[in-house]
Amino acid sequence: MWESIQHPDFLTKNEVREVKDLFNKFSKMLAQEYLGVDKNSIQITEWNDYNHIAYTGGNLLPGKIEYINYSDPDFSMWIHEIKPRLDKDDLFNWLRGLLSKKFDGINRKADFRWVSFFNFNYHFETHCDGMDVLNKEYPRPSSFDDLKPDNWIPADYGKYVYTHQGLINIDCEHPTDGTIIFDQSFPWSTYIDFSRPSPPVERWPDVGDDREMIIFGKGDSITRFDETIRDFTFDDIPEEQYNLIIEHCDKSELSRESLWGLSIDKILYFGQPGTLISWDTDKYHRVKPFPIEEKRRRLCIQYDCRMRI
Ligand SMILES: [Fe+2]
Repeated sequence: MWESIQHPDFLTKNEVREVKDLFNKFSKMLAQEYLGVDKNSIQITEWNDYNHIAYTGGNLLPGKIEYINYSDPDFSMWIHEIKPRLDKDDLFNWLRGLLSKKFDGINRKADFRWVSFFNFNYHFETHCDGMDVLNKEYPRPSSFDDLKPDNWIPADYGKYVYTHQGLINIDCEHPTDGTIIFDQSFPWSTYIDFSRPSPPVERWPDVGDDREMIIFGKGDSITRFDETIRDFTFDDIPEEQYNLIIEHCDKSELSRESLWGLSIDKILYFGQPGTLISWDTDKYHRVKPFPIEEKRRRLCIQYDCRMRI
């Protein structure tokens, strides 16, 4: 397991400024030139280089998130047109190179699967990333015992070791925002909340109807896909740990019951711009709850690593 760490000054002030300027330049171009709205009216909540951009604001209804995929012909043409002024591929390649050097410098070798920008203004379920089961989007069977390894083992199984992932603070306005890392882990990417009945008894709309195969909820066994959730406590999260989690928000943002079976490994705070937080990809984690407000600045670089064997 990779240790959960917070590393201040991972990027220098100048590097942070450079990344932030490029991000803001792109955000303004997207608003004015592609969406035709005021340059400061949108918030890009996610920007990755392989699939999509997500944003709020502009002409959208409050709280609505719109996704623009690179496969959209209009969008891919626009991305191509702006290349002389802002080349998305160059930007992400430069970022990957910069981060690689920095990770070498702290002895945490990084082979990137993804490098993205995150600026989420909402919470989502406790989960772990890492390997995806092949049948991730299939309906749940009436019993998981009915599944055979062929149903969940993906084609690239055994080619990679999933290592570490994390966030680098670029422009977060609250240093006490961050990520909660739990002691519990699972090698397959899954969601967990033992206070809620699993689908189909209850829908988990914030996770999505195409994710019911990878949800651990009330009544579920902690063994699935030939693996067992490690270090599961079968108990409430200690009260003092729960109080730390909700320290900077109202209890209504996250109930203690929804953390049943879990215990804190570390709370990794965003700290000042330039700070890296990083944890083992198999570990369950969640956004540290914060009061949901429009336009809370939480801009980070997000990265995820896996090593080819
Ligand atoms: Fe995650």
